[in-house]
Amino acid sequence: MSLSFSDDMLKEVQRIVESYPQGKQKSALIPVLHIAQQEFGGWLSTETMDYVATLLGLKPIEVYEVATFYSMFNLKPVGKYMFEICQTGPCMLNGSDEIVAYIYEKLGIKPGETTTDGMFTLKTVECLGACGYAPMMQQGKHYREHLTKEKIDTIVDECWGMLYKIIKNKIFPLGDRGYMGRKLLLEKLTLKASGSMSVPP
Ligand code: FES
Repeated sequence: MSLSFSDDMLKEVQRIVESYPQGKQKSALIPVLHIAQQEFGGWLSTETMDYVATLLGLKPIEVYEVATFYSMFNLKPVGKYMFEICQTGPCMLNGSDEIVAYIYEKLGIKPGETTTDGMFTLKTVECLGACGYAPMMQQGKHYREHLTKEKIDTIVDECWGMLYKIIKNKIFPLGDRGYMGRKLLLEKLTLKASGSMSVPP
């Protein structure tokens, strides 16, 4: 098995395990799976789940059972930004189906699919406890509420903007020397990636 947490992450896992009574290390499974998902590319491969099982002294099947039950765990690679649309009653009555259809129209992905550029994944999930703000979705650590087509447009642009910042910070790590030339390069990269977005000033 080649996977391994960093030393810092192993310390964090140990801290979580020790917060439960002796012999109850299984209780640490969900928080440790969250860490594993975050550390190993945003999803849980069989190898990752087996590693977590070894770490916690569990049988692999005990990890699979939990990871396949909860929708917050991804069992295949996902895009950089994930839209998890609630499809339970209140959200459905307030138009979640239309939102899913609009995302398909805009990004060409159905629930369970990822855009070919690896940017967006669409998922449908059950009630996320924000029914009063229907229709809503979870996007990373954020709840996006009272969704409309216009809000989806804004959110998609925001995601491209966040990626733009990441690229910019990589290209300009030491500041703005030679700014114009690198701005042009960045513009080409960003436009190529998004197919639509203009570069902020
Ligand atoms: S029904 Fe969508 S958040 Fe509860």
